[in-house]
Amino acid sequence: MPSSEPAALVVERVSKSFADRTLLDGVSMRIEPGERVALLGESGVGKSTLLNLIAGLEPVDSGRIRYGAIEVTALDAGAAAAFRRRNVGFVFQAFHLLPYLNAERNVAVPLLIDGTAPGPALAAARELLARVGLADRATAMPRELSGGEQQRVALARALVHGPGLVLADEPTGNLDPRSAGLVLALLAEQVRDSKASLLMVTHSAQAAAIADRRWRLDAGGLHEDRNDGP
Ligand SMILES: Nc1ncnc2c1ncn2[C@@H]1O[C@H](COP(=O)(O)OP(=O)(O)OP(=O)(O)O)[C@@H](O)[C@H]1O
Ligand SMILES: [Mg+2]
Repeated sequence: MPSSEPAALVVERVSKSFADRTLLDGVSMRIEPGERVALLGESGVGKSTLLNLIAGLEPVDSGRIRYGAIEVTALDAGAAAAFRRRNVGFVFQAFHLLPYLNAERNVAVPLLIDGTAPGPALAAARELLARVGLADRATAMPRELSGGEQQRVALARALVHGPGLVLADEPTGNLDPRSAGLVLALLAEQVRDSKASLLMVTHSAQAAAIADRRWRLDAGGLHEDRNDGP
């Protein structure tokens, strides 16, 4: 399967406001290749927004984001989509599964749009679904899956193309502790095996435990978090 070489992610003095509300005010950070970072912070503080900026899904107001040699903040919409296809696995807070495709086809999408033949793409999708405990749900439609099952499908889809950068927004937010354990084990293993970098928004201590570092976003900006609590 294709996989992208992990690279350093560098966020330089990035600012972002919506209407009159400044969420990010000159935020800087750096994630080394293979580093795993948990991002904590109160609801509404801008965590999902920061992931969207890094993925090139939203424009910054000012500042710069680089992933290796790619200047994400300089990409147009088409080039940003290609950057995500090649380099980024995004687990969205709200899953965003395609409602008209079954689970295995949802997972196979990143491979199919990058030119992998359907047979191998679906085989890779089924293998990942088995690893998140959904081997027997591969042909189920999203509407037939529970929230936690949809979350696991979304995780499998984010990992199937071997991205160098995994952005995960509350990947265990809808899961019971056992399913959360499965998802975290897969995420940690996949990220380690492919030497991918991980930026994971989470409120869960169980999830934050797979990270090397913890950062907290608040009105004052982004700080290294040295508390033991979530
Ligand atoms: N496209 C947008 N247009 C206008 N306001 C937005 C937009 N996206 C986000 N916001 C606002 O920015 C603020 C931060 O949103 P964001 O989703 O980044 O928060 P969050 O830290 O991820 O919160 P949560 O933990 O609840 O998911 C919210 O007040 C939200 O309403
Ligand atoms: Mg959010």
